[in-house]
Amino acid sequence: LNFQSVKRKFFLVANIARTSEFSLNDLPGAGRMDIVCRFIAQSLFISHGVRRDSAAIVTLLGEPEPPKTVLIKGDEVKYMSPDERNIAGLLKKSLRLKVEKSWKKSSPGIYISSKDVEEVLDCFQSSKIVYLREDGQDLVKNISIDDFLFVLGDHIGVPDELEQIIISKSDMVASLSPISLQADQCIIILHNILDRIERGWSCG
Ligand SMILES: C[S@@+](CC[C@H](N)C(=O)[O-])C[C@H]1O[C@@H](n2cnc3c(N)ncnc32)[C@H](O)[C@@H]1O
Repeated sequence: LNFQSVKRKFFLVANIARTSEFSLNDLPGAGRMDIVCRFIAQSLFISHGVRRDSAAIVTLLGEPEPPKTVLIKGDEVKYMSPDERNIAGLLKKSLRLKVEKSWKKSSPGIYISSKDVEEVLDCFQSSKIVYLREDGQDLVKNISIDDFLFVLGDHIGVPDELEQIIISKSDMVASLSPISLQADQCIIILHNILDRIERGWSCG
């Protein structure tokens, strides 16, 4: 896959998100698939459009067949709209495929593999890897234009063992706010910081 123009990559560790088909009528019951869908929506959508420079990556670690990693590229995605149910429908479709370590296309711009968190990080070693954590360094004071992979936890956060792997492969542990936020709220702030920097606005 080509990530040349995809400079903003957002990576969610979804600790209990279901790895087989699930009901669109109960996204929270599918291992908090609602969080996954909101994360994808905020990573990719703007008013009446998609951010072509962005990608959302989610490693699903719930039953019955973890891990599975879904990747959505903003420069290729089609047939996706920002509502959770639409996104969940496309994820459900991807979970019907038989997964392998290499990326398999499920629909335009949506890929799935059996990669675990460490293998995903290894795919993006040429990007600046930033692990988002409440007690990290203030991101706005330590950021410049770059090719990024931002790593975030879900409502559970990131388990200790996995966190050690992520930190060992990260360039920075960064915080966005003195307040603990939801992952999709972090994405909104990250895009805003990057949008402002790219256009020469101050970050306050
Ligand atoms: C709902 S929070 C996780 C809550 C908490 N860490 C826990 O273990 O219950 C989801 C994720 O958003 C990111 N996050 C939340 N607030 C943040 C902040 N103020 N700065 C940086 N990242 C934050 C972290 O990656 C966190 O794992």
